[in-house]
Amino acid sequence: MTPESRTHRLAIVPGDGIGPEVTASALDVLNAAEATFGFTTERETFAAGAQHYRATGELFSSDIATRLRAHDAILFGSMGDPSVAPGVLERGFILAMRQEFRQAVNLRPVRLYPGVETPIAGLTPERCDLVIIRENTEGAYVGRGSTVHAGTPMAVAVQESVNTRAGIERVVDYAFRLASVRRKRLTLCHKTNILVEAGRLWQETVTDLAARYPDVETDYVHVDAMCFHLPIAPERFDVVVTDNLFGDIITDLGAVIQGGLGVAASANLNLDGSAPSMFEAIHGSAPDIAGQGIANPAGAILSLALCLAHLGEAQAACAIETAVVAALGATAGQRVGTRDLGRQIADALAHVGTPDLPLLQGGSVMTAMTLAARS
Ligand code: IPM
Ligand code: MG
Repeated sequence: MTPESRTHRLAIVPGDGIGPEVTASALDVLNAAEATFGFTTERETFAAGAQHYRATGELFSSDIATRLRAHDAILFGSMGDPSVAPGVLERGFILAMRQEFRQAVNLRPVRLYPGVETPIAGLTPERCDLVIIRENTEGAYVGRGSTVHAGTPMAVAVQESVNTRAGIERVVDYAFRLASVRRKRLTLCHKTNILVEAGRLWQETVTDLAARYPDVETDYVHVDAMCFHLPIAPERFDVVVTDNLFGDIITDLGAVIQGGLGVAASANLNLDGSAPSMFEAIHGSAPDIAGQGIANPAGAILSLALCLAHLGEAQAACAIETAVVAALGATAGQRVGTRDLGRQIADALAHVGTPDLPLLQGGSVMTAMTLAARS
């Protein structure tokens, strides 16, 4: 894709459980966004996930990787099913894709939208608008380690965490770029008092790169303290950068604070243009409610907005975010079906920016992502 091109090649991977349902809603919104904002997409849908694996044995094969690589971005539903052993699809597809496509950054906004209920008493939307930048290919997720004397009382398991300067630097640099177009505050979250070696490398990298971003203020919070501060004082944070495992954990906490997994979105960003980035809601496949048409599509629709922001369609991305917020506010406390909520958001898109639906204010992550992708 040339930067000016407004035709985006999208790979659609609906996956399992509620994945296909929330993806269908996101595509309703995408159709409306194209009609309103004048860009186009070429879409190809890919079979992947539990059913496909049972039928064919295929996970993230080189064939699927080659076909996905031809796209500008991947919209991903969710993956996982009780019929496949835990870990098989997670490691065999999701983690394999993040690695193979060098999706170095996992970006997860934590924004409490007006009208969305949060379990944190007294928390207001003005106080909760941050972005967690999680390193996405290294750390404890490299899958290295060994066990000796397995199954005996002398069993020893070693699980390695790999941290490279280059890997840390690319994610920290992106975090700085994002912070510099937001509220100019970057917090490193780690456990430098215990994980001394990895912690030193992370801290050194942040300190070195800070010289390039003199207008961004930096600070540091241990991951355990982060679990304490994040729910009660999210206003302390603008952009938080952290390693893969800490990021996995604190982004679930972030999702709770912003009103649950239903509204939490994420972007897996390739920063070097060698492969497509991937966009997915944070929720899983939720087999218990699959097929009933009741899953909340907001997380998938906001992930679509992140995708469009990354592809340079900031206006459409901000409008989708505004329309989601309006729909969530209007339907608060009601039971609305997956497809109906999607259609409501799609219908609202044409009115965003009018007096009826003023564009959501407040330093949207969408605009910042578009700027950070270009800088
Ligand atoms: C996430 C998920 C994944 C992870 C799983 C499904 C592999 O929890 O995206 O946060 O651990 O990264
Ligand atoms: Mg997780």
